[in-house]
Amino acid sequence: MTDRLKGKVALITGASNGIGAGTSELFAKEGCSIILADKNFDEAKHLCNEISKFNPNCIALKLDVTSENNWIEVIQKSVNIFSGLNILVNNAGIYSRKLIEQTELNEFEEIIKVNLNGTFLGTKHVIPEMRKMGNGSIINMSSTAGIVGNIGSGAYGASKGGIKIFTKYAALQHAHENIRVNSVHPGPINTEMISENLSTPSNTNKIMSKIPLKRIGTVNDVAMGVLFLASDESSYITGSELVIDGGLTSI
Ligand SMILES: NC(=O)c1ccc[n+]([C@@H]2O[C@H](COP(=O)([O-])OP(=O)(O)OC[C@H]3O[C@@H](n4cnc5c(N)ncnc54)[C@H](O)[C@@H]3O)[C@@H](O)[C@H]2O)c1
Repeated sequence: MTDRLKGKVALITGASNGIGAGTSELFAKEGCSIILADKNFDEAKHLCNEISKFNPNCIALKLDVTSENNWIEVIQKSVNIFSGLNILVNNAGIYSRKLIEQTELNEFEEIIKVNLNGTFLGTKHVIPEMRKMGNGSIINMSSTAGIVGNIGSGAYGASKGGIKIFTKYAALQHAHENIRVNSVHPGPINTEMISENLSTPSNTNKIMSKIPLKRIGTVNDVAMGVLFLASDESSYITGSELVIDGGLTSI
């Protein structure tokens, strides 16, 4: 355990699995108090039990990021328990591979609701608490799909592009309060979310062949970037886009 986040309190959404789980573990190792927030409470609780073995300052809360009331409750509980909040990682997200003509309106809306509305609601309700602390770092999980187009899910791309530009508005509106807001743009990362895309060696090789660094990213690759943006090491960085994609979008 080191102390890059010592004394800070972080709320991480989508913390039960994949990138959110890896980020939560890394934050806990860096001395942070953490709130693991996920729709899937049982898995969040399980991870919290594991983390508590080396960092007791960990709680799990049930949160559906699409519910404004849920956000208000979770932020209030977090602040009551840890006496404030310094970091929010808006990481929860869903993905679909459907082409535009195959996508029903309600499916499009659901992706926007979780990915984009969820990020908006979290940002809206955490700002007053960060203002009280006199500092804050909000990290919004976008994607390379929010920077460049692809043959795949237009709904997902639209939600992630929305997160990218929303991040800049939030950064500009709250810079004077020492609240920083940045977006992270991973390329393909080996988690449940893209397990279908990586289901056969031939599919995996096809994806890898397009990546200049010739490998699929890991959860830790992304968590290390999020850690940097959460810590005071990035104190002059706001409104920026951290791309973690093995060079994919440089082509
Ligand atoms: N895996 C990738 O290749 C990749 C690439 C770029 C960006 N991302 C983004 O990274 C983030 C994490 O993705 P992952 O790969 O770890 O996915 P994952 O499916 O492994 O984990 C997503 C987590 O979000 C939670 N979640 C889903 N809907 C929720 C809701 N309404 N409220 C609260 N929690 C909810 C799930 O329970 C799960 O724990 C997402 O925003 C995703 O879009 C992933």
